[in-house]
Amino acid sequence: MPADPSPQTGPPPANCVHEVRHPLIQLHLTRLRDKTTTASRFRQSVRRLATLLAYEATQDLAVKVTSVQTPLAETAGVELTQRVGLVPILRAGLAMVDPVLDLVPEAEVWHLGLYRDEATAKPVRYYDKLPNGQPVDVAIVLDPMLATGGSVIAALTTLRDWGVKQVKVASLISSRQGVDLVAAQFPEVPIFVCQIDPELNDQKFIVPGLGDAGDRIFNTIY
Ligand code: PRP
Repeated sequence: MPADPSPQTGPPPANCVHEVRHPLIQLHLTRLRDKTTTASRFRQSVRRLATLLAYEATQDLAVKVTSVQTPLAETAGVELTQRVGLVPILRAGLAMVDPVLDLVPEAEVWHLGLYRDEATAKPVRYYDKLPNGQPVDVAIVLDPMLATGGSVIAALTTLRDWGVKQVKVASLISSRQGVDLVAAQFPEVPIFVCQIDPELNDQKFIVPGLGDAGDRIFNTIY
């Protein structure tokens, strides 16, 4: 059955959940969902969607006014005043880093390694190299999929412990159950998502979803 690009029925998302509606997001999400999309094209769609999502998620970045000299005159410009940290959840989140770095070239990148145990669907930490102290001002968690929400909750807990005051989540596709759980536990964290799908199956995969993002990005489907 084709993915339904129309708004989901049911209760409206919490205030902190932003399901970004845009025809180009729907277009590239359709390619992402398509089971015949190759790994190369899948990565390309991830990059495009990450760019569109990052544009939305960075609307409130703080800037200060500067001046810039054009070839013709001096005029006003801006520069960012906050340290921005991109926090990809390995592995799949890696594919969203470069497009967001293209938009925020000064951003720092801090990796968190989490995988979902196949039997329990609970997140397992295997890499965390955040520095002691000196947290970034704004952190953006990057992960193409938010299914049960367990991995994002683990990442948000780690970032809170690091001392980051402002955190956002950018996820290409989420389940209704997952975003509701994250929003309930971290109501202050805005979640930017291309589409919220209605359900999880018995294996806790998003349905209709797009399969396993990490395997499709890294071409490791066996
Ligand atoms: C997937 C996905 C998320 C997580 C979502 O990663 O990229 O990180 O599962 O599931 P959750 O919301 O139920 O926690 P996976 O564990 O497959 O690891 P991978 O990125 O290395 O493939």
